[in-house]
Amino acid sequence: MGIRYNEEKRLFQLDTEHTTYIIGLTEEGYTGHVYYGKRLQGMGSGYPLRTDEEPYTPSVRKGAKCSFLDKFPMEYPTGGIGDYRESCLDIRNETGSIGSELFYHSHEIRKGKEKLDGLPASFGTEEEVETLKLICEDPVLHIKAVLAYSVFETRDIITRSVQLINEGSELLRLEKVYSACLDMDNEDFEMLSLRGSWARERQIERGRIRFGKQRMSSLRGESSHQEHPFIALATPETTQETGNVYAMHFVYSGNFIAQAELSQHDQVRMTMGIHEGDFCWQLKPGDVFQAPEVVMTFSDQGLGKMTRTFHDFYRNHLIRSPYLYKKRPILINNWEATYFNFDTEKLLSIAREAKKDGIEMLVMDDGWFGKRNSDTCSLGDWTVNEEKLPGGIPELVRQVNEIGLAFGIWFEPEMISPDSDLYRAHPDWAIQIPGREGTLSRSQYVLDLSREEVREYAYESVARILRSAPIAYVKWDMNRQLSDMGSSCLPADRQGELFHRYMLGVYELQERLVTEFPDLLLENCSGGGARFDPGMLYYSPQIWCSDDTDAIERLRIQEGTALLYPLSTIGAHVSDCPNHTVGRTTPFATRGHVALAGTFGYELDITKISEEDRKQIPGQVELCHKYQNLIQTGDYYRIASWTMEKPYDCWEVAAKDGSEAMVTYVQVLSTANGHSRRIRLKGLADTAIYRLEDTEERYTGEELMLLGFPVKELWGDYQSRLFHFVKEAE
Ligand code: DGJ
Repeated sequence: MGIRYNEEKRLFQLDTEHTTYIIGLTEEGYTGHVYYGKRLQGMGSGYPLRTDEEPYTPSVRKGAKCSFLDKFPMEYPTGGIGDYRESCLDIRNETGSIGSELFYHSHEIRKGKEKLDGLPASFGTEEEVETLKLICEDPVLHIKAVLAYSVFETRDIITRSVQLINEGSELLRLEKVYSACLDMDNEDFEMLSLRGSWARERQIERGRIRFGKQRMSSLRGESSHQEHPFIALATPETTQETGNVYAMHFVYSGNFIAQAELSQHDQVRMTMGIHEGDFCWQLKPGDVFQAPEVVMTFSDQGLGKMTRTFHDFYRNHLIRSPYLYKKRPILINNWEATYFNFDTEKLLSIAREAKKDGIEMLVMDDGWFGKRNSDTCSLGDWTVNEEKLPGGIPELVRQVNEIGLAFGIWFEPEMISPDSDLYRAHPDWAIQIPGREGTLSRSQYVLDLSREEVREYAYESVARILRSAPIAYVKWDMNRQLSDMGSSCLPADRQGELFHRYMLGVYELQERLVTEFPDLLLENCSGGGARFDPGMLYYSPQIWCSDDTDAIERLRIQEGTALLYPLSTIGAHVSDCPNHTVGRTTPFATRGHVALAGTFGYELDITKISEEDRKQIPGQVELCHKYQNLIQTGDYYRIASWTMEKPYDCWEVAAKDGSEAMVTYVQVLSTANGHSRRIRLKGLADTAIYRLEDTEERYTGEELMLLGFPVKELWGDYQSRLFHFVKEAE
């Protein structure tokens, strides 16, 4: 049983296989955070709430209520009444004041987990998950807050979300609604986060927390290239295998905050939720507001355990696509091959050559509609450009299928170009502030998806094409951030809802799409990886990771992405050299090995690449077939992260039953007078015998894990090797 309530001690204890989370109620009904960490065998006590210490609870010493609130480890702190640390809930009432206070009202414990209305969220059966709902209320505002905790016992995951219900008669304005808070005593924590930029997404950032607030956030209307909706606090010296890690990850794709705040009494408050900037949600009497979900885990075995916990959780409880464990077609995308300059003949020539090498799907990227010969026009005009593609999409798909390849197509349904028939007909469909010239980005505006007729148009633009031909795959792109937040349909006092309504609109569209086309393989994308987040994974089993396809740049991008996301979700392609983003030339084999740590595909003009590179494609395709299942289902271990001092990168994917392991080693720079590197494997059976494939070398599991496997210095920069160890005997 994952959730227990001890009525006498007024404690809720949430146990997973290796973790325990305890919530305590004070006499007044404040919900306090007692403990999160390693699993307790028995039932814990509430003394860490320190209600017997100065300044005591308000029922004991009313005169010091402010000091109490400013120190008490609160499960869901509210703003305006004297807790000066970050609040999770700010409500403005009709008199214009901000102030709310929540007290325990009742609770429910039940098997299973409900869906979150309009939002992506994790799921599980009644055997897999149990949910505690703590129902709290503000006796003055008559608002109920339902704090939901879902315990996935065997996964070591607790998810959290919050629902607000206005049961009073006042119009309330929610100016901030976060989804989770974790108040802990500081353990000299270091904060881990992911930062980046376009083509440099999700680089791991780590540093000791300082006094005050350290925040990762986005106000860009997307989870963003720059900062990621994730935060972890780790004890000093945490490694891949050792150390305590407390992590939160947000199942949301829009504005967010992920924050650690170190305060006066050496306490840390971790918070996560929708960013309060430009957010104000009107809650009329009877209205309900649902905040998105946070996924929480604790690991006492370092970052590696955290990573594998997230991977297993997302694979089993967030990604719904039938492609999750199914063989994904090896695709070739024409973006870096042709950009906008293509026609039917060009695409078919790529398809014909691709077919010869075993590639299975052609994806037609941007440029097939309206007058789109550059990125300056036509978004919104989703009618095929017959000058490029005579006979339209059905004819093109027919010809591609005839060659023997499946067909995939690119859309950017959320956008509108000022130079488009759509904009000329409906300028008010773009998000804009009246009287102010809209800020263009990539020469485009964003469609106001808070409006139903706009959503309908966007959906039908995609669905109409998908209904017209057997299209197996869609790449759903989004190439600019939101700005100039104004909707012509929302009243002045509801404009603060636009960012979130936009996200709800995107989710509604994708939900419709995967419902109407259940067999469609959907890949989300956002100018590379600006919307690589758990929210999107609910709709698509893979997301384009970055527009930077250089194998060496990808090492860090994919390492940061794989810190949280299963390799099977990471869109990765082999592209041509010199690389289009950084101008680097790397061996074709290395590009293949790096792309294998993702969805694997090609993004090059196969009719033009050198013969030497071309010859390697069939072998790479074979590797993909061979390892795809292991990559989709196995345990991922990060073995080395390259630096100038140790210029090699290494990761492993081991089968869950220890029967095989694939190890990828990339020597970023070669070293003069170098010697072999010892790679210590993980996840094998100690006494079993493993053979290194294609050799007669045999090792026991413990030899590989403890003594390590020597990889000799390779000749040249950017070289890589793939090692496959297969269990021969127990
Ligand atoms: C950004 C994507 O990340 C690219 O792969 C490509 O689809 C372009 N957009 C097309 O405009």
